[in-house]
Amino acid sequence: MRAPLVVPSDRDATGRSFGAEELELVREVLESGSLNSNSGTMVRRFEHEFARSLGVARCVAVSSGSFAVQAAVFATRPDLASECVTSPITDFGALAALLYEGVVPSFCDVDAHTLMPVADTIANAITARTRAVVVTHLFGATTELAPIRALCDRHGLAMIEDAAQALGSSRDGVTAGTVGDLAAFSFQQSKHITSGEGGAVVTDDDELARRVRLFTNKAWPYGEPDPDHRFLAPNGRMTELQAAVLIAQLGKLAEGVEQRRRSARALLAETEAADGIGFHGNVDEHSFWRMPLLVDPELVSCTELAAALAREGVRCQAHYVGRPAFELEAFRERRFVAGTGFPVDYRDSRPRERIEDFPGVREGLARVLVIPWNERISPELGREIGIRITAICRELGGDR
Ligand SMILES: Cc1ncc(COP(=O)(O)O)c(C=O)c1O
Repeated sequence: MRAPLVVPSDRDATGRSFGAEELELVREVLESGSLNSNSGTMVRRFEHEFARSLGVARCVAVSSGSFAVQAAVFATRPDLASECVTSPITDFGALAALLYEGVVPSFCDVDAHTLMPVADTIANAITARTRAVVVTHLFGATTELAPIRALCDRHGLAMIEDAAQALGSSRDGVTAGTVGDLAAFSFQQSKHITSGEGGAVVTDDDELARRVRLFTNKAWPYGEPDPDHRFLAPNGRMTELQAAVLIAQLGKLAEGVEQRRRSARALLAETEAADGIGFHGNVDEHSFWRMPLLVDPELVSCTELAAALAREGVRCQAHYVGRPAFELEAFRERRFVAGTGFPVDYRDSRPRERIEDFPGVREGLARVLVIPWNERISPELGREIGIRITAICRELGGDR
């Protein structure tokens, strides 16, 4: 029996990078006495720095990644019960965002190797009612951007990138979150940079940014003449304390991503020798929110590998979220707005999705093993995890 490994966790200080920089800025906020973004300066400063770091014109900081998706969807002015194509491998918050805006999620299949939607799978889900696409990047990888942008342009659809897991990631040199009409980010505890909870919407379009800001502020147009609550909208503001932490965190992002890559390379150098283990991505452009490996079920059982790794101190997620969103209770029972089937059943009774129609989703989830990753995992530890994976695969494979 090999000695269990001690793996830093992004749930506590072992896997996070908070220090004097965050403390200093939080102190500044507290001493200013302004904890709210409409009276303080930190949220505006974070918005400016975050937009600049991505090379986009506008950023609106919000209370969560889920809210960021909702505000982005709202900004595109979707028709009531229109459809938005999106991936069934995503966070529930990104789907609640659509439903609350009266938009029907129309699920597309994904690439079986990356578990992300691509232009071809999105195209198959477009109908006459489709008005938008939410493109879900996963694990720190960026899905193909140019083909999806071209597809959306051809069909006149709004493109929203859900980059909650993809900060610091790119595809062919193009940064995640810079190609969609809008993009959403999350700063929840586990993300690349965090304030516990938090999110942001970015865009190059001034009018879209204005609508996102209104939506975030109960539709009260701060700074405009003749203010009034213009329409129904919630409070989704970020606080000054969150922004203070995020400004400091943003300064650590580039090094954090580099560290994640260094350790990823060390792991992958070891697992190359493992029969049945694959990695499908470009390490140099991946920001490794997580380390996604594909396990060939003919050679190794993903579940057994995860159980063996857990015994050695590495707690992984076999099959990631386990099932596609349309198999979650809320979707199975159609328990949506006010407990009704709205908006999904608003026009007609839509047939339920069947997993057989989503071969990429089925295969991707069956094979994926998601290893927790963070910037405090050293290359030495990455290498050791890789060695353990290879050894376990040999042991499990030998049983067959
Ligand atoms: C792809 C994706 N979208 C949206 C969200 C929602 O973000 P939040 O938890 O900040 O609301 C998450 C959160 O994990 C996510 O992974």
